[in-house]
Amino acid sequence: MPVITNIEDLRVLAEKRVPRMFYDYADSGSWTEGTYRANEADFQKIKLRQRVAVNMENRSLATQMVGLDVKMPVAIAPVGLTGMQSADGEIKAARAAEKFGIPFILSTMSICSMEDVAAHTTAPFIYQLYMMRDREAMANMIERARKVKCSALVLTLDLQVIGQRHKDLKNGLTAPPSPTIANIINLMTKPRWCLGMA
Ligand SMILES: Cc1cc2nc3c(=O)[nH]c(=O)nc-3n(C[C@H](O)[C@H](O)[C@H](O)COP(=O)(O)O)c2cc1C
Repeated sequence: MPVITNIEDLRVLAEKRVPRMFYDYADSGSWTEGTYRANEADFQKIKLRQRVAVNMENRSLATQMVGLDVKMPVAIAPVGLTGMQSADGEIKAARAAEKFGIPFILSTMSICSMEDVAAHTTAPFIYQLYMMRDREAMANMIERARKVKCSALVLTLDLQVIGQRHKDLKNGLTAPPSPTIANIINLMTKPRWCLGMA
């Protein structure tokens, strides 16, 4: 395993290992991608001010989020198709969140089912549900989330219009993905990913 010192190292590694269509899905936004770039740029503007000669004892970021004790007030946000970035991706992410002590939010668009994630974790996780016309399907998913003891529900309300994601259109990221020649050739350059999926 290479030495990972920051998120950029992980991005470079993912670009090498993950098939183009799934890498682009995670590393892009819709239309001009202006909001996507602004999101990163805004975070870069935040500077932390160093203080010296102050008492450093008993510092803690631990708190509570929606009834859960957490090590710090952050969570792993719901990310669709995480299981296509790496085999069992949702399970790996949920286990990492559990080990670190922060909440994991499982996306409606996950590859691993909520039952799979529950079977491989002990900490409760949060389930993300899209607001859909089919209320029966929604009720069914809420019932499943209740059965696997999800601790909270995140309701996502922005699915009325699906964003036009140009890279996904060009890469043939449809359900199921288009087996174009370019995609098949690209897959052949990702043996580690293929082995994991197999
Ligand atoms: C690749 C990708 C997939 C996402 N999939 C979902 C999803 O399935 N459900 C959802 O509610 N939000 C989804 N989101 C939105 C994120 O959960 C999050 O709200 C958003 O990225 C803003 O947080 P950030 O500033 O930490 O990126 C996705 C975001 C990205 C970048």
